[in-house]
Amino acid sequence: MHQSISLFSSCSSIFHIFLVLNFYIVVSVNGEIVNNQCKNLSSSDPQVNYDFCVSSLEANPLSETSDIFGLAEISMELCLNNATYIQTYIDSILKDGKAEPGARVCLGNCIEFYSMAFREVQKAMEAFSGKDYVTALVRLGGAIASADTCQDGFTDAGVDFGPLRKQYDDFFQLDAISLGIITNINGPLQ
Ligand SMILES: *[C@@H]1O[C@H](CO)[C@@H](O)[C@H](O)[C@H]1NC(C)=O
Ligand SMILES: *[C@@H]1O[C@H](CO)[C@@H](O)[C@H](O)[C@H]1NC(C)=O
Repeated sequence: MHQSISLFSSCSSIFHIFLVLNFYIVVSVNGEIVNNQCKNLSSSDPQVNYDFCVSSLEANPLSETSDIFGLAEISMELCLNNATYIQTYIDSILKDGKAEPGARVCLGNCIEFYSMAFREVQKAMEAFSGKDYVTALVRLGGAIASADTCQDGFTDAGVDFGPLRKQYDDFFQLDAISLGIITNINGPLQ
């Protein structure tokens, strides 16, 4: 009786150790995809900041347990949400009435450019789910081109881009993260 109890307890502690080890292995391997991808992207692209990359992707708890394909989808969702957010943000600047007339025209155009960027990211996501990674990369490039066109409008009109600077930089980085992850899946475009 005594022996069987001690046998049971040593089995249970071995089982416990096994569970704990297993937990660590699963969690560290899973959590590492974000770190590994962000390290990879920030070392190959000076425009991707490691901390921004990790905190953006980890905002979605599914990133911890996803593979590289899931991570690509999560990052494109971030682009999509951010393009929507920026349109709302521009709208709020226009409504508060403080922008000078020249800036108002540019801002109004930028709502349209970010709505085009949104549609490009949507097309990228569709292409990605159809495993057409090349089209996904081209569409993500188109989204950045749209955001750039918004900025060019300010430059051409000689208007300070300041109010949209942070929004542009964040969107640019989110898009660059998607581009980088899908390039790691597909290989670089020829
Ligand atoms: C989009 O970017 C802004 C900063 O410009 C950030 O505050 C916001 O959390 C981002 N939204 C999403 C959905 O990633
Ligand atoms: C990033 O990952 C890709 C694909 O695995 C690899 O080809 C490339 O060398 C890596 N880049 C860096 C800077 O580690």
